[in-house]
Amino acid sequence: MAKLWAGRTDGSTDKAADEFNSSIGIDGRMFRQDIKGSMAHAAMLGRAGIIAPDETDKIIDGLAEILDDIESGRLLIDPAAEDIHMFVEEELTKRLGELGKKLHTARSRNDQVALDTRLFLRERSAEISAAINELILALCDRAEEYSDVILPGYTHMQRAQPVTFGHHLMAYAMMLLRDAGRISDAAGRMNVSPIGSCALAGTTYATDRRFEAQSLGFEGVCMNSIDGVSDRDFCVEIASAAAIIMMHLSRLSEELVLWSSWEFGFVTLSDAYTTGSSIMPQKKNPDMAELVRGKTGRVYGDLITLLTMLKGLPLAYNKDMQEDKEHIFDACDTVLACLNITAGMIRTMRARPDKMRAAASEGFINATDLADYLVGKGLAFRDAYKISGKVVARCIEAGKTLETLSLAEYNEFCPLIGEDVYGAIALETCVDRRISEGGTSVPSVLKQIEAVRAILSKGGER
Ligand code: ARG
Repeated sequence: MAKLWAGRTDGSTDKAADEFNSSIGIDGRMFRQDIKGSMAHAAMLGRAGIIAPDETDKIIDGLAEILDDIESGRLLIDPAAEDIHMFVEEELTKRLGELGKKLHTARSRNDQVALDTRLFLRERSAEISAAINELILALCDRAEEYSDVILPGYTHMQRAQPVTFGHHLMAYAMMLLRDAGRISDAAGRMNVSPIGSCALAGTTYATDRRFEAQSLGFEGVCMNSIDGVSDRDFCVEIASAAAIIMMHLSRLSEELVLWSSWEFGFVTLSDAYTTGSSIMPQKKNPDMAELVRGKTGRVYGDLITLLTMLKGLPLAYNKDMQEDKEHIFDACDTVLACLNITAGMIRTMRARPDKMRAAASEGFINATDLADYLVGKGLAFRDAYKISGKVVARCIEAGKTLETLSLAEYNEFCPLIGEDVYGAIALETCVDRRISEGGTSVPSVLKQIEAVRAILSKGGER
């Protein structure tokens, strides 16, 4: 088919060049946004008196039919078309004849593609926000259920202090809350319309950019037409928010992989989110968690690709920018899939309090509490710390725990230690006494859950 842009050249491009140039395999997904954008454009052209009222109506009807036909499968998007913008315009002209050619008055594909991408990402970011909220709610529910289940908290991957499983899960809820804030910040900044920037310099027609922006649900218009067609910051911002989400999901996945191992045995993942081995009959592999962890690299790649694609580009539009969609779409698709899968895993996993308890009972994770007990008896913390360290060393030597060391043995290190030491170092006591705001005690964690739920019910952080 003759190229719409044939004129200066005859448009007889090499077949391989056509395929190389075409982006419809990727941007075909934006057909709805492209058509809705064109409808708003036609309405603006009519209102501004740039085209006649009956022409406006016919163009809008024609576009509505095309949308209908694509949605119902009557019209297939032609994979040989250059991009979705050309495809829709060509189809309109096929249907309306000469009139179809008026649609592209006072616009360019440069502002059109910037518009479509913003519209598309507006929907994706709303979906991502909703998926984040779902996962946060799942974490809150499970944290409430496991609010008094004790497991070792780790630093340096060494058993450190007892925490509750609810506390640990809520740490992820907090990260995700910030992630939701980042997505909604990016979505808010993105919500200005580039249409009317035209090729780069604006237009000689008396367009009404604000009317067109408003009818498409934008909060305003890009103030500089060169920026309007050159800006892809919004893709970078969403990709970077997506990369941070993936980093968080990957840390959680890593813990699920560890926790579900025989070595830890802290959780059992549902059969619905694990797979078997083709050879080893005993295997139950945490594939979904591993894939979420693995796909993190792919979203980082999307972000780096976008940043690198843009870094050397002079203003304004350059064809390099066509590469943006494949990566920002992939980042959004990946993060959405990973959020949904993770929510499913969290909702269906079972904690194993016995295993957590057993791990918490070894490793001297109550040694800090022994020191705090000695401070309570009048010692300075540094001295108390030293004595507790020596007690731990003795226990290791004697194959004992702080709970099984006798009072006589304790008194070799410090005569102030009394029978009440055993109550002070009980794991429940360690947890119950962590009453500081944000700490691991049951009431503190319940407060965190309540606060997060309240934020979500008010529509998030932003
Ligand atoms: N498919 C192109 C893209 O995604 C649309 C814009 C083309 N503009 C141009 N002047 N060739 O970037």
